[in-house]
Amino acid sequence: MTTMDKFRLDGKVAIVTGASRNIGFEISRTFAEAGATVIMVARDEPLLASAVEQVAATAAAPIVPFRADVGVPESVASLAATAYEQFGRVDVLVNNAGATGGTHKLNALDVPDAAWEETFAVNVLAPYRLSRLIGRRMIVGDGGSIINVVSPSGFIPTPHMIAYGATKSALWMMTRYLAAECAPKVRVNALSPGMVWNGTASWAPDDPTGGGLVAMTPMGRMGDPTEVAPAALYLASEASSYTTGAVLMVSGGRPW
Ligand SMILES: NC(=O)c1ccc[n+]([C@@H]2O[C@H](COP(=O)([O-])OP(=O)(O)OC[C@H]3O[C@@H](n4cnc5c(N)ncnc54)[C@H](OP(=O)(O)O)[C@@H]3O)[C@@H](O)[C@H]2O)c1
Repeated sequence: MTTMDKFRLDGKVAIVTGASRNIGFEISRTFAEAGATVIMVARDEPLLASAVEQVAATAAAPIVPFRADVGVPESVASLAATAYEQFGRVDVLVNNAGATGGTHKLNALDVPDAAWEETFAVNVLAPYRLSRLIGRRMIVGDGGSIINVVSPSGFIPTPHMIAYGATKSALWMMTRYLAAECAPKVRVNALSPGMVWNGTASWAPDDPTGGGLVAMTPMGRMGDPTEVAPAALYLASEASSYTTGAVLMVSGGRPW
């Protein structure tokens, strides 16, 4: 197998949550380009259908939508069951869907319970539930790769993001625990994008330059989803066969 062959995902089945736009869309497109069957997950049906159509247009393997709110336990159970019914296997799970709790204008002491509940449900419980359902099958099957999309806000405080940051921090620690306990058959890694925005991200600040955050980024600009997806392909594929429990920063040089 050549080094480039190690990046291929032919015959593999991947689930990508939050796949209808931005980072999750681009990860789905990249996995499809590498030969994977991709189950693309999001809530808004028309947007998801259009995203699936775009990815499927050039894909060799099936690209299918699954409409679900990953914050709802029954939905993730149904997602996992459907994946195994339809394809018999899941090799890659990307927990990419994220929630901010809408706290952009709130100070740390003013965040309501609802924001904590939403961020924990989507950013922590959903990845855990999916990892539990799919990781168990991976361990008794052919193994696999789980990728959790975290954030610089989970490593260092950023303004108005206490709930989001705390949940991403929890997701990072969960990644390390799962990596320690699921090795060697299942690798579990985190991917931490810096500021990535193509104009539609739900977290988008009023100032699309990201104010001080771009100034804190050595690359001096926001990133593009196409600059994040190749890192997910590395973590998903045999190319990263000795990498587990790691966080891969794709953050334009920000230390976290
Ligand atoms: N963009 C950044 O600068 C940045 C930086 C660091 C980390 N991240 C992380 O990277 C990930 C992707 O960010 P993004 O900016 O690409 O997000 P985004 O543009 O807001 O897109 C989020 C995607 O997730 C789906 N989604 C949201 N909540 C969901 C739910 N409860 N169940 C199922 N799907 C859901 C959305 O579709 P529906 O709304 O239709 O469900 C959409 O497809 C997130 O985990 C985020 O925290 C992003």
